[in-house]
Amino acid sequence: TTVYVPCDTTAHSLGADKVASLLERAARERSLDVTIKRNGSRGLFWLEPLVEVDTPEGRVAYGPVDPSEVASLVEAGLFDGAQTHERALGLTEEIEYLKKQQRLTFSRIGITDPLSIEDYETYRGFNGLKSAIARDSQSIVDEVKTSGLRGRGGAAFPTGIKWQTVHDEAPGQKYIVCNADEGDSGTFADRLVMECDPYLLIEGMTIAGLAVGADQGYIYLRSEYPIAHRILNEAIVRATDAGYLGMNILDSGRNFHLEVRLGAGAYICGEETSLLESLEGRRGLVRAKPPLPAIEGLFGRPTVVNNVLSLAAIPYILDHGGQAYADYGMGRSRGTIAMQLAGNVKRGGLVELAFGTTLSDLMNDFGGGTLSGRPLKAVQVGGPLGAYLPESQWNNPIDYEGFAAFGGVVGHGGVVMFDDSVDMGDQARFAMEFCTVESCGKCTPCRIGAVRGVEVIDRIRAGENAEKNLTLLGELCETMVDGSLCAMGGMTPFPVQSVMTHFPEDLTPQYAKEA
Ligand code: NAI
Ligand code: SF4
Repeated sequence: TTVYVPCDTTAHSLGADKVASLLERAARERSLDVTIKRNGSRGLFWLEPLVEVDTPEGRVAYGPVDPSEVASLVEAGLFDGAQTHERALGLTEEIEYLKKQQRLTFSRIGITDPLSIEDYETYRGFNGLKSAIARDSQSIVDEVKTSGLRGRGGAAFPTGIKWQTVHDEAPGQKYIVCNADEGDSGTFADRLVMECDPYLLIEGMTIAGLAVGADQGYIYLRSEYPIAHRILNEAIVRATDAGYLGMNILDSGRNFHLEVRLGAGAYICGEETSLLESLEGRRGLVRAKPPLPAIEGLFGRPTVVNNVLSLAAIPYILDHGGQAYADYGMGRSRGTIAMQLAGNVKRGGLVELAFGTTLSDLMNDFGGGTLSGRPLKAVQVGGPLGAYLPESQWNNPIDYEGFAAFGGVVGHGGVVMFDDSVDMGDQARFAMEFCTVESCGKCTPCRIGAVRGVEVIDRIRAGENAEKNLTLLGELCETMVDGSLCAMGGMTPFPVQSVMTHFPEDLTPQYAKEA
């Protein structure tokens, strides 16, 4: 029998390693022929550690399994897949949360051992790379254009056009840089790719290299992801040994080398130009654009900078064809988006669906409402720079243009839920304060504006000339939006303005005093 216990950060922090060793001991004591396999997480976090057991009907699941419950689970026949224990969940694939998803990018997570090349190949792994190797570079770029894929880091710029720009630059040293500095609140989809399906990212980056003529790639990884760091480094070694990476990939005569570089915990290093500065060994200071990184990027050379999720969507596109990807989605938002449910939520986790679903469906059908059981009051989508959305906006379909039309940000797909005990005035202050801490300091509207913004919010909340200061805050926000060099200062006002518009009562001093 094979028993699966996830190895990603979430499962690990909830006791999965202990669960695995207790299961192993129990099997040994009973002289049972049991193999414990450390798979990736399925992304159903509220059920972690989610233990699965192979049965003739498919894998059955148990969760969340606390180490203290292992003995009773074994007693109740876990190794035979028995379903009598209260933690038994039936067939994994039949769990509604998973069954209702459209997993194109995350089709393999939780199924395979993340570091097993054999597992990866069994589930169509490296098919996209094989297809890319058989084509010329322009036809790879064209396939990505056909897919309609847009940057999943948040800015939604068409990936195929970015690649075309780098492709069209004169031959010479070019780079592929993966932005794995996943800094948005409530997000973890990049981490799941890297920890649970690392070859997917490696394959996507290698295809990007073939498409634009780059032979060197860097993954800029946030230092807060030590497990991803270990797994990626090991995966790079194994992929190189297997001929999928390094010199003469699959005997094609083409080379692609990959290295991981660690960040040092600065949010701004997720902005592509400060990321490049940091990669070059300097302080993460934003560069003015133009020149675009696609033309003058790392070490002044043409560089593709893509988020983990953009690159991880590529193998599917090359394997199944761009049109197969474009068949999902709505409007100009094609394919699927990985939404990440977090904050005050009953069933947190990863939900990959075609564009077009609503926040309401996500938060209620998938998320099951708030963990506290209290009514939902607001939701912040798209990270700390995204607007706080009130109930009237929860039924809009999720797509880039639709969200932009009402001032919302889809961003990297983070969904942070708040119940009615939240003080939105505090949240507005928090958004401004975040910018004072994380600003790179290069431009005035952001460096000084955010500090003044916090002061003004404090004055409003203390009842000092509230009306006049509200006008001042509005003007300050406009100045930051219009005058900042990058999205850090340019988007910080979004959450603040959304509180002013949708939750004005929380900004009044009366409210602050009562609270
Ligand atoms: P942007 O709109 O300036 O650029 C988007 C991308 O397209 C960049 O890579 C840029 O170099 C490229 N580009 C633009 N014109 C091009 C052209 N003609 N040819 C080739 N490439 C071109 O947006 P930016 O500043 O890169 O990102 C802002 C977004 O980042 C925000 O919308 C926010 O949602 C997101 N964000 C994501 C975070 C995360 O943790 N994933 C954290 C913070 C912000
Ligand atoms: Fe730096 Fe802020 Fe200006 Fe961006 S907006 S360049 S983070 S000071």
